[in-house]
Amino acid sequence: MEKHLEEFFPPGTAENDLFARLDPGRLPRHVAVIMDGNGRWAKGRGLDRVEGHKAGAAAVKEITEAAARLGIGWLTLFAFSSENWKRPRAEVGSLWRLLRLHLGSDLELLTRNDLRLRVIGRRDGIPGPALKELERVEALTAGNRRMTVVFALNYGGRADIVDAARRLLAEGGVDPSRLDEETFAARLSTAGIPDPDLLIRTSGEMRLSNFLLWQMAYTEIHVTPVLWPDFGRRHLLEALLDFQGRERRFGDVGAAVKHAGQRT
Ligand code: FPP
Repeated sequence: MEKHLEEFFPPGTAENDLFARLDPGRLPRHVAVIMDGNGRWAKGRGLDRVEGHKAGAAAVKEITEAAARLGIGWLTLFAFSSENWKRPRAEVGSLWRLLRLHLGSDLELLTRNDLRLRVIGRRDGIPGPALKELERVEALTAGNRRMTVVFALNYGGRADIVDAARRLLAEGGVDPSRLDEETFAARLSTAGIPDPDLLIRTSGEMRLSNFLLWQMAYTEIHVTPVLWPDFGRRHLLEALLDFQGRERRFGDVGAAVKHAGQRT
């Protein structure tokens, strides 16, 4: 095992056993995550919800580094949905503050691991100080290549599709009969990013919650009851193993059906 992986998944641990079962040649290129359960985690400890988000931010750091070391190319994190504005003002303010503080302090983590930051979502709704920091870190990490961390902020899947349609209409000159999926996808906020292969949702909810609706047409979904602040490298490895056990058919029949009766 390479040294940087041995450090992260030390021999003799459950993580090391899980890692040994992983097929490095069949990792998802892009993992998307709905980080849910910060509030419940805090409530279960008699703490304020904001403490749950702080613990959630620590889990973001842990999973980002683990995904990069494993060789995942894109990690998209649903950090603030376009519906999250409905939460109490103080909680909304704390979430953006937390994000801004972490960007400042975790810039070193991004540069040390050769990670690029990219933001998707409606930027015009993001509070000024947070947006300024996000764009600064995006610019500073634009040349990094090992993994791209995509923060979905003020993001809604339907809004993303509407915005793409607006861009197309504003450009003009598109013959409706020639519009294809590729042309449309190139106007989405995720242009240039491959569709997620795996979606992880924590805290047991079985919903997409308006996340990457277009992009997740064929994404495998892994739902775990673990609350986001408790989600560690062991749970990431479990999700990846679950993914590797799936047969992806993209609307085709499975290989077993296709080749049935062909054996001599
Ligand atoms: C869901 O938990 C989580 C969020 C609304 C936001 C995710 C935010 C973080 C992980 C922290 C800050 C992020 C970064 C990138 C530094 P919830 O509040 O919906 O939990 P509940 O369903 O138990 O109430």
